[in-house]
Amino acid sequence: MTTKEAAASLDRKRVRPRSTPVPAEGENGLFTESWFPVCLSSEVGPGQVIGRQFLDGRIVVFRDETGLVSVLSAYCPHLGADLAAGKVVGTRIQCGFHHWEFDADGWCEKTGLGDPPPASACLYRFHSVEKFGLVWAFNGEDPWWEIPDYPKAEEELAFSVSYDVPALPVDPWVVCANTPDWQHLKAVHRLNFDHEWLYDRIDWTDHSMEYDLEARLDQGEGPALNARVGIYGTSFFRLYGEFMGQWIAALTAFHLVAPGRTQVYYSLGTTRSDGSPEDDARVAMTHDLLFRLGKSIVTDDRPILHSIRYTPGVMTRSDRALAHYLGMVRDFPRSHESADFIN
Ligand code: FES
Ligand SMILES: [Fe+2]
Repeated sequence: MTTKEAAASLDRKRVRPRSTPVPAEGENGLFTESWFPVCLSSEVGPGQVIGRQFLDGRIVVFRDETGLVSVLSAYCPHLGADLAAGKVVGTRIQCGFHHWEFDADGWCEKTGLGDPPPASACLYRFHSVEKFGLVWAFNGEDPWWEIPDYPKAEEELAFSVSYDVPALPVDPWVVCANTPDWQHLKAVHRLNFDHEWLYDRIDWTDHSMEYDLEARLDQGEGPALNARVGIYGTSFFRLYGEFMGQWIAALTAFHLVAPGRTQVYYSLGTTRSDGSPEDDARVAMTHDLLFRLGKSIVTDDRPILHSIRYTPGVMTRSDRALAHYLGMVRDFPRSHESADFIN
């Protein structure tokens, strides 16, 4: 008996199966407590400030003259000018409208005409870090997990960092959910695995999943990819290992530019050049190879991600890892401490 005949004999009603939904970013005014990239390090030089959209509002990223980067809410507590239109003065950001100055922690230290700074005059300061060529901000009061290091020190590595355009019309966690999605890795990305199941290989923590991937690209016709891959929080994918004779380290990191909108960044690394022209060429070749690989993976995903209404529904045994990850995202701590400031 076919499935169709079995269904008919049971006189089954057509009901769309749905699992418990995963809350969207911004639902009930809350966002997942994850480390989100907010810009490339190279976009904010010493003494520069730039404005960016983040969560459901606006932030500024500024680098003081000593090189320290801060991520603050964008709107001045005086009359609401966007501090991205201001400038950096020493270790402070100065508002362009009336020249109030704020320190790296977001406290007003000085007003333009010498009135004492009101005690309540402050910006929201995000916990931030600069890593792998990106500036990252944590959504939440206290970062309860860290962006992991690679097994090699960052100083030993050379990174090439860039944007992928256009932005994707989904939340970052939807993009993350592709990594534990075993069926899609085979169907969309044409990976041929040397191992049968995915779920049993995964090491889970309260905020991440990692596993050793052993696969060949192009349905087994392409090069081997033996790498440690993982998803961290709701906002980035990481991979490191051997590919085509090179040690590689790659992130695709997902900036939450607005609810339901993800800007993808690539941070692609390999061991730093020894300074010789041959080794410079090796680094450039590896960066190019990684960029083309990352680009082709995101390009494979685009037709799906540009039109999907991500709805966990009926699943099969191959979806076990995906179901586990979606459960993690569903229960992920959510908050929005900066809500009053970035809007
Ligand atoms: S609005 Fe910023 S100093 Fe007045
Ligand atoms: Fe994918």
